[in-house]
Amino acid sequence: MFSLKKPSKQKKKPKKTKYQKKKTKQRFGRKKQKAKKNQKTKKLIFEKRLPDDLRIHVNTPAIHKVLGNLIDNAIKYSLEGGKIALSAEKEGDFCRMTVTDNGIGISEKDLPHVFERFYRADKARSRHMGGTGLGLAIVKHLVQAHGGEVEARSELGQGSQFSFTLPLAE
Ligand SMILES: Nc1ncnc2c1ncn2[C@@H]1O[C@H](COP(=O)(O)OP(=O)(O)OP(=O)(O)O)[C@@H](O)[C@H]1O
Ligand SMILES: [Mg+2]
Repeated sequence: MFSLKKPSKQKKKPKKTKYQKKKTKQRFGRKKQKAKKNQKTKKLIFEKRLPDDLRIHVNTPAIHKVLGNLIDNAIKYSLEGGKIALSAEKEGDFCRMTVTDNGIGISEKDLPHVFERFYRADKARSRHMGGTGLGLAIVKHLVQAHGGEVEARSELGQGSQFSFTLPLAE
């Protein structure tokens, strides 16, 4: 069970080996550092709209990975002074979580392919950005494994909106 507002209180100690624990910690640390650096240099504004009362059944580390990848993209493909919003809302028996940015956007031609493994829109641009083109393929796989679906909307030069659904807990 995963509450949107209080993830830290829900945390159970994972049974992992020492080696895995260290690795996860290191990787998370690096991500946070990178995000912070980007946040500072790009002067991004973050907004959150998360209701208290939505509860979902999830594997918490997997959903953190999903949100991490989407937010990582939003930061990476934003311009200076950009705005990134994270929101959640009820949609029937599902919770829809959405990450919105007003960054560089994705063309109509590239948009249907962004969840494919190794697909990167605008190859020349992507080379400078770093990354492998696996982030969204992982997002799609993890969300579907939880019984949800992913969706991407975007307009070149205007921004992007990535969202996914997860079944609500009864
Ligand atoms: N928020 C976004 N704004 C603009 N383009 C995006 C956004 N998110 C994804 N894309 C496009 O979709 C492509 C695929 O995204 P994905 O996260 O799978 O790969 P990546 O970010 O290039 O690399 P990785 O996630 O493996 O570090 C990106 O290369 C980029 O062209
Ligand atoms: Mg990515």
